[in-house]
Amino acid sequence: MESVRDKVAFITGAASGIGLGLATVLAREGMRVVMADVEQAALESAAATLAEGGAEVLPLQLDVTDREAVARARDRALQAYGAVQLLCNNAGVNAAGPLYDVTYEDWDWVLGVNLGGVVNGVTAFLPELMRHGPDAHVVNTASVGGLVGMPGLGIYNAAKFGVVGLSEALLADLLESGVGVSVLCPGVVRTALTTSHRNRPAHLSSDEGPAPIPADDADQGDAPAVGTDPLDLAEQVLDGVLENRFFLCTHPEFREIIAERNAVLDSSFKGTADPAMVEAMRSLVRPIAQS
Ligand code: NAI
Repeated sequence: MESVRDKVAFITGAASGIGLGLATVLAREGMRVVMADVEQAALESAAATLAEGGAEVLPLQLDVTDREAVARARDRALQAYGAVQLLCNNAGVNAAGPLYDVTYEDWDWVLGVNLGGVVNGVTAFLPELMRHGPDAHVVNTASVGGLVGMPGLGIYNAAKFGVVGLSEALLADLLESGVGVSVLCPGVVRTALTTSHRNRPAHLSSDEGPAPIPADDADQGDAPAVGTDPLDLAEQVLDGVLENRFFLCTHPEFREIIAERNAVLDSSFKGTADPAMVEAMRSLVRPIAQS
């Protein structure tokens, strides 16, 4: 997409952190912004603040794991603004802990929001995005945790690796349509992710799993002191969308770690490749470098 001005963004997890940063920056650039989030009070307050500053925003309470609700939210957005050209599947949560400590409820919650939310957003919005072709773009929020496994983050890693894989396939699937795809893989950002248990539904609460990660200096929703400012991160996402870049890797602190992982992966291939098979695979798989 060459410009975002006068277009419509639909952002999940828009009441806080990265999603709110995106809503702020995109509204400032002249987009109308649908702000979707499960946390009603925070959403209303964030949308009111942006509206007071002159932004055109539509707050919609939405649980991204609820497929029917995602479809209804899409319809509300289309009813209000007539189009959605930029979809940011950003809502996310974390339940940290080694995999020998976590529960099925931890798995269901984190996979449901972080991966299932992206699945639901993509599925509900693809027809609308494809209608706009090169004027449309999808940004899926993964993490550096979608590129390298980390101790105590097994569920989060599984979800975010899933988001990266889904996004790579989506890029290939959408190539002919012209719709752009980016996958956002940040490191540490100053948000309320450490208190994401605040939005954990009762039916997926876990008595046995690891305790929620305490926030540094807050009861609920306040950002810890370290990490990138979400507004700076949002500016980088905007640049990535305008330049139609696939990987949005915003934290060079992780570059060496990921390069080391890639080197291990590369050196794990044994034997000699069958040239005919290489050709056959090339015609099936379009590597990211060729898209
Ligand atoms: P945050 O907690 O500040 O914002 C997440 C938002 O998602 C909240 O407003 C929350 O209410 C909403 N949300 C949670 N469950 C939801 C659901 N079921 N349906 C709809 N909305 C829901 O956290 P942050 O950091 O801004 O998270 C945004 C995304 O960024 C997440 O996908 C997270 O995994 C990712 N991320 C964050 C990093 C960080 O250091 N903060 C690093 C890498 C990725």
